[in-house]
Amino acid sequence: MSGAQRHPDTTFADWNRSDEYHNSFLIPKDAALDGALQFSAEQGLPNISVSTAQGKFLKLVAKSIGAQRVLEVGTLGGYSTIWLAQALPEGGEVVTLELSERNAEIAQANYHNAGVAPKIKVIVGNATDTITTLDPEFDLVFIDADKKNNLNYFTEAKRLVRKGGVIIVDNVVRNGRVSDPSYTDSNIEGIRMLLKALKDDNEVDATTLGTVGEKGYDGFLYAVKL
Ligand SMILES: C[S@@+](CC[C@H](N)C(=O)[O-])C[C@H]1O[C@@H](n2cnc3c(N)ncnc32)[C@H](O)[C@@H]1O
Repeated sequence: MSGAQRHPDTTFADWNRSDEYHNSFLIPKDAALDGALQFSAEQGLPNISVSTAQGKFLKLVAKSIGAQRVLEVGTLGGYSTIWLAQALPEGGEVVTLELSERNAEIAQANYHNAGVAPKIKVIVGNATDTITTLDPEFDLVFIDADKKNNLNYFTEAKRLVRKGGVIIVDNVVRNGRVSDPSYTDSNIEGIRMLLKALKDDNEVDATTLGTVGEKGYDGFLYAVKL
């Protein structure tokens, strides 16, 4: 069999259909999450939240490590926050950092409608500043804001997360462009800077997990604090 037959070209339609197929078995419809996406779209927020399967993955990671305290960098309308909050036990908390006052207000409305508002604290401001005001310890940090500051956020996340805790960074593949030297914008460079720093970082062990689905071709960087 030729390489081309073993790795046939696929399209966004294939990825989208595949996500829908798998989700139909593994992820029951959730009115709270669907409602958050709908309200966010009605309010004009861009469609850049994690996918359904990725949100479920974040929830499963939080559950797997028995997370009680989670930090999120980049709230948007709160879709990923709701997934994370759903994983937490009574008394658990997600702290989420967002630059835009308006996004934070939309997210708060979504948390309220989803019944998870008491578990979530939104801090409005530039996360490069607000993250430095936080105290340890968190079990899980999810980084999904301005990619150019990824290394800043990751360095702070290492300070904040417990040993054995997990740091996940979204959008580190960006359609393969991070590995293509002809792309040099600040977001791509921000991901490269993080990867270069991780090469010699003995405080974490990490891997990139490519993702493909309803949100296109991208990837999570998954790191465990040693
Ligand atoms: C990709 S969206 C987050 C999506 C969200 N995690 C989800 O999956 O539902 C990125 C968010 O980061 C916010 N953001 C960008 N730069 C930021 C900064 N310097 N500090 C805090 N938030 C920032 C944006 O306003 C936007 O709401």
